Amino acid sequence: MRRILVTSALPYANGPLHFGHILEAVQTDIWARAMRLAGHECHYVCADDTHGTPIMLKAQAEGVTPEQLIAGIEAEHRSTYAGFLIKHDLFHSTHSDENRRCTEKLFKALDAAGYISRRSIRQSYDETAQMFLPDRYVKGTCPRCNALDQYGDSCEVCGATYSPSELKDPVSVISGTPPVERESEHLFFRLDAFEGMLKEWTRSGAIHESVANKLEEWFSAGLRDWDISRDAPYFGFEIPGHPGKYFYVWLDAPVGYMAASLALAERDSLNFDGWWSADSGAELHHFIGKDILYFHTLFWPAVLQGAGFRRPTQVHAHGFLTVNGQKMSKSRGTFITGRRYLERLPPEPLRYYFAAKLGPGIDDMDLSLDDFVSRFNSDVVGKLVNIASRCAGFIARGGGRLASELPDPALYAEFAAACPRIAALYESRDFIAAIREIAGLADRANQYIDTQKPWTLAKDPSRASDVLAVCTQGINLFRALMTYLAPVLPAMAEQAGRFLGHPITRWTDVVHPLLGSELAVYEPLATRLDPKVVATLIEETPTSAAAPVSAPSAAQAAAAPPAKAPAAPSPAAATVGAKGEITIDDFAKLDLRVGKVLDCGLVDGSDKLLRLQIDLGNGDVRQIFSGIRESYTPESMVGRNVVVIANLKPRKMRFGISQGMVLCASNDNPGVFLVSPDDGGIAGMSVT
Ligand code: 2FM
Ligand code: ZN
Repeated sequence: MRRILVTSALPYANGPLHFGHILEAVQTDIWARAMRLAGHECHYVCADDTHGTPIMLKAQAEGVTPEQLIAGIEAEHRSTYAGFLIKHDLFHSTHSDENRRCTEKLFKALDAAGYISRRSIRQSYDETAQMFLPDRYVKGTCPRCNALDQYGDSCEVCGATYSPSELKDPVSVISGTPPVERESEHLFFRLDAFEGMLKEWTRSGAIHESVANKLEEWFSAGLRDWDISRDAPYFGFEIPGHPGKYFYVWLDAPVGYMAASLALAERDSLNFDGWWSADSGAELHHFIGKDILYFHTLFWPAVLQGAGFRRPTQVHAHGFLTVNGQKMSKSRGTFITGRRYLERLPPEPLRYYFAAKLGPGIDDMDLSLDDFVSRFNSDVVGKLVNIASRCAGFIARGGGRLASELPDPALYAEFAAACPRIAALYESRDFIAAIREIAGLADRANQYIDTQKPWTLAKDPSRASDVLAVCTQGINLFRALMTYLAPVLPAMAEQAGRFLGHPITRWTDVVHPLLGSELAVYEPLATRLDPKVVATLIEETPTSAAAPVSAPSAAQAAAAPPAKAPAAPSPAAATVGAKGEITIDDFAKLDLRVGKVLDCGLVDGSDKLLRLQIDLGNGDVRQIFSGIRESYTPESMVGRNVVVIANLKPRKMRFGISQGMVLCASNDNPGVFLVSPDDGGIAGMSVT
């Protein structure tokens, strides 16, 4: 039995999980489940990556502490992962006592071994915000092509790379003031000391050949010291012995893998050193996106080795996800969050689709929504589930017990013989090939049933035992297929195990067919995906027809009656919609809040209104009538975040009381467009 520790990259705690995160978690989870089915001891841990400047500033902007911000995000991450059946043994946080202990321990060991150096560097400093500025927080004119509004590290127009001090007319993104240059002492990790070790490690089978070339490029460019410290203010861990200096988020992030496993070991009395000591016989596998290879294939193994720990056994990198052939993008509505998906669809179809397209290399993967629907409906519902549902009925009518022998043992033996091949394909992350092999077997099973025609045999009462035999064969073929798909479709496999009266726990279960045993009542294992529902994964996005919402005069409140024909303008609508000047005090009278639509329905007797139940956070749930029916269906509203005037005087209407107003943009174009916060906005936030 192998002892295996598996991780996925730690998601940043600054926003919701999107399909890129889900793809990686599904890949890791399938792999970990496959290793457990092979009988190995396999633990899968992950955590939120919580430190750094963006999180600190986001918390400030939202008027909460970073701890409050990351707690809210962690809750969302946990529930979304669970929704996709991601089975972490433990999900942790880098802002934890375990991570502080591990990070300090690694740092002290590196320092004692002479791998930490100190030197002063000059950096952009914002005197107003009183902080050093990461490169991306300085913007200005490109020194090469004079493009305006470029980041401090590179120009998006001409591709030049430079340092913030080279920008023309630089300003701090935080305060809008020009930064000054300031000196400060930083701590560096001496990566170059590990060049020989890293070259050897990369050739040890630790990385897929498709990424080995990338590493060669980095070796030829030369390994440079790595700045691992940041000055206060910074949300992170203060460096022991260096007051005012903090560990750079990318130092303590991978240590989060170790910390999560420490928390797991302490919780479940497992052997932490057994995973991490230099002479550990256990395996350590990291699943990551190809964008963070440098951190995982150079820094991380070097940090581990330098501090006296083991190195990763393998770093498995995957490519990026595109949706309908294009990069995921908020403006195109293709930036699909995990939650948006789970509000509409069950997790397993997506797991199946990702598996069917995931290979061992770093090629990008496209999620085509049409292909998604047809793959799941045809492979899983049409082929796999069909075998069970067709055979189960006949067996139930024949007494509910399987026959005591198989009519075609050779065919079953063929299915069982595929097991080691399929297990090996999972292990090498060639899920595409595993699914192809399984789909081929499913075709064979369906051919068998089509040839034997139990439905024809069943018409002749003297052939009852033949019907039972054929269906016993069918159910056993189904069981083998379901076992092979168990890493991908774990809930279905569990349900199938209950139906079969034998839980699916090991690959080797398939060696012996189920004979003479009783079956439970068959319940449908999966239903077809509705393409109309799948199409709503992509958000309808307002195009240029939409009015700009930044100008207050264009933002109108769509309430009952619709904003375009307000019968009796309420004070709030008059304030927002007025063309004249208002003061900031006028604006401050509005209590604008982000609300989440919990429920939405049509209103009898009105062809303009929708009735909404909106959660404004802290248990404040309102009923609001809104004149948006011409542009939005009730289904498309549920789960959406909208902006609500929360202190609008409640209005008694024919249909009930309306307790607020939902903001929309509109002009002379037909239709209204809801105003909503960017991803990350959550119910209860004030809109300022
Ligand atoms: O790129 C990212 O999203 C990082 N939060 C990944 C960190 S992985 C590990 F090093 F923690
Ligand atoms: Zn440029």
